[in-house]
Amino acid sequence: MKHGQASRTALSAAGHRAAHQAIEGGLLFADPLAIRILGRDAEEAIALSKARPERRALRFFVAMRSRFAEESARRAIEAGVRQILVLGAGLDTFAYRLEPREGLRVFELDHPATQRDKRARLAQADIAEPAHVAYVAHDFEHGDMTDALVAGGLDVARRTFVLWLGVAPYLTEDAVYATLVALARFPGGVEVVFDYANPPHAIEEARVRDFHRAMAARVAESGEPFRCFLETALLRERARSLGFVEIEDLDLAALVELYLPHIPVKPRPGPGGHVVRMATG
Ligand SMILES: C[S@@+](CC[C@H](N)C(=O)[O-])C[C@H]1O[C@@H](n2cnc3c(N)ncnc32)[C@H](O)[C@@H]1O
Repeated sequence: MKHGQASRTALSAAGHRAAHQAIEGGLLFADPLAIRILGRDAEEAIALSKARPERRALRFFVAMRSRFAEESARRAIEAGVRQILVLGAGLDTFAYRLEPREGLRVFELDHPATQRDKRARLAQADIAEPAHVAYVAHDFEHGDMTDALVAGGLDVARRTFVLWLGVAPYLTEDAVYATLVALARFPGGVEVVFDYANPPHAIEEARVRDFHRAMAARVAESGEPFRCFLETALLRERARSLGFVEIEDLDLAALVELYLPHIPVKPRPGPGGHVVRMATG
């Protein structure tokens, strides 16, 4: 990320969610605040998506990962979890759509510049910052995340649900695993949903590999290159060794089977983008 500037990829992920509302009517993921939070940038994001049909695959992936994460979070809330952590929150609007509940707290952690930009956009869009939201500024590559969260009021003794979407690919592998180690050590236990990409060389289907290469080139141009690719089997093994006992890993084919079971042409199971849910005991 460029020093002192709000994340470009946060704007781009939010643009996909806004375009999904405008183009597909929120078919896969309904987010009534997605367009509003973008303000003047919404129109451009929607126009770009309409003009470039090749953006549809990524837009659907972004929509499905949010749908899966929020469904999991809402299940956890129904089961009694009251502490939600949104890591690398960007312009995500989950915290602002959640109905208040007794004891509910949502912590949004991000780079300070991205966080400042988000809060300015919220104010401009007249989206109130609910009393249950707290903001924590932190850089995953520097310093101790747990210390920052505790200083911001998070109680590691309470079970925590974590949404960590669209962030891992932009971090170093060390920072990704350091984050998982830190979460696994929360004494109250955690459930986390995040997404990651397999190394491009592992992707056999040329069309999918080209799609990933083109996307990598685009994000690198914006100053936020992909830095971390994970092998699924290795991630599972390391997650187990950290104490994650429940691991649900969905590749694109599994996501499509879950949310678009009736489409005629399905992606083949295999390497590419994944969404994973893991929980400690
Ligand atoms: C692609 S955006 C995803 C935002 C949001 N989670 C979403 O799904 O729309 C990546 C986010 O990760 C954050 N990020 C990237 N590198 C970071 C770092 N080293 N420390 C803290 N946040 C970081 C950016 O500020 C940005 O909000």
